Amino acid sequence: MTKVALIGYGYWGPNVARNIYKNKNFDFKYICDKKQDRLDLAKGIYAESLKYVTDYRVVFEDPEVEAVALAVETSAHFKLAKEAMLCGKHVYVEKPLTDSVEDAKELKRVSQETNKILHVDHIMVYHPVIKKIKEIIDSGDLGEIMYFDCSRINLGQLKNDVSAMWDLGVHDLSIIDFLSNGANPIDVNAMGENFYSKKESITFMNIRYDGFLANVRSSWLSPIKERRIIIAGSRKMIVYDDVDVLNKLIVYDKGFDVIDRNNMEYDEYVVKSRSGDALIPKLNQEDALFNSLDHFRQCSEEGRQSMTDPDAAIRVLTVLEEAEKCLQKK
Ligand SMILES: NC(=O)c1ccc[n+]([C@@H]2O[C@H](COP(=O)([O-])OP(=O)(O)OC[C@H]3O[C@@H](n4cnc5c(N)ncnc54)[C@H](O)[C@@H]3O)[C@@H](O)[C@H]2O)c1
Repeated sequence: MTKVALIGYGYWGPNVARNIYKNKNFDFKYICDKKQDRLDLAKGIYAESLKYVTDYRVVFEDPEVEAVALAVETSAHFKLAKEAMLCGKHVYVEKPLTDSVEDAKELKRVSQETNKILHVDHIMVYHPVIKKIKEIIDSGDLGEIMYFDCSRINLGQLKNDVSAMWDLGVHDLSIIDFLSNGANPIDVNAMGENFYSKKESITFMNIRYDGFLANVRSSWLSPIKERRIIIAGSRKMIVYDDVDVLNKLIVYDKGFDVIDRNNMEYDEYVVKSRSGDALIPKLNQEDALFNSLDHFRQCSEEGRQSMTDPDAAIRVLTVLEEAEKCLQKK
């Protein structure tokens, strides 16, 4: 049983707390938030089963605590994650790991030096739909991946410390990273605008990876909510629509068949479009956040690297940093 503490009980922290609490393999010790009103809210739910503190150092200095989960603002991740590992704690940190590749590399170094697990909550990697898509891709059913088309837009809560791509696009980049086994980005282009907020509230990224393309749209300025990914393979194509309650995942037997490569009269491929069956795969009823936290727990107990370790985070942050350079040019 891992003795764990949560730092940060703002918007997302309560979800992390709930999933720690319902996992009987965690021994939940503390909730820490610098705001007393947030702690009062937590106390209303978890009562005397754990301790509530405003100073995170109380948690870091308690030798009983083996692991900490950080659900604080992105800008606070680096300092707290580093200090926690130096105090001998395994660390779960919300996405994105840091706001720069340099800081992420430093956290990776500290994790290696202290021999502490650093798990980044690339939550979608632990989502049952993404796990199913990975199975389908790995079985070869999709053929060669041609492109990912990702849309994560809604009329959202504007943020000032991170732009839409650092907050929303990071999910899509972590999905692409996982599904492609860490493919290399070759070229990154992006544009965005900071309507109503300090950082860009709408961003469009175009990325050429080694072997396929990706388009990632992230926005808090949309009248409708979309959480949709299209993955086009040379044999089949997938649509994952997280907003659709009934048919979240559909595998289409659609594409183009090359009819004749040899006797090409006009020196062109002869191709014919194909429109076959659509399959709705059966999905496991699992909670991605529960899975992510439990994976962190297992890795901490067994001393093995997380699937979403600092290297995965560094690959994702590298794309974001390249995209950021394009935004700065505007
Ligand atoms: N995995 C997901 O799908 C998902 C969804 C939403 C947010 N997040 C991530 O969760 C993190 C938190 O986001 P949020 O929207 O909840 O932010 P938030 O601002 O609502 O909450 C952060 C909380 O952390 C507390 N805090 C900050 N520094 C602290 C410190 N030094 N000591 C104690 N408490 C401190 C603040 O008082 C606040 O209550 C971000 O990294 C965000 O990207 C992840």
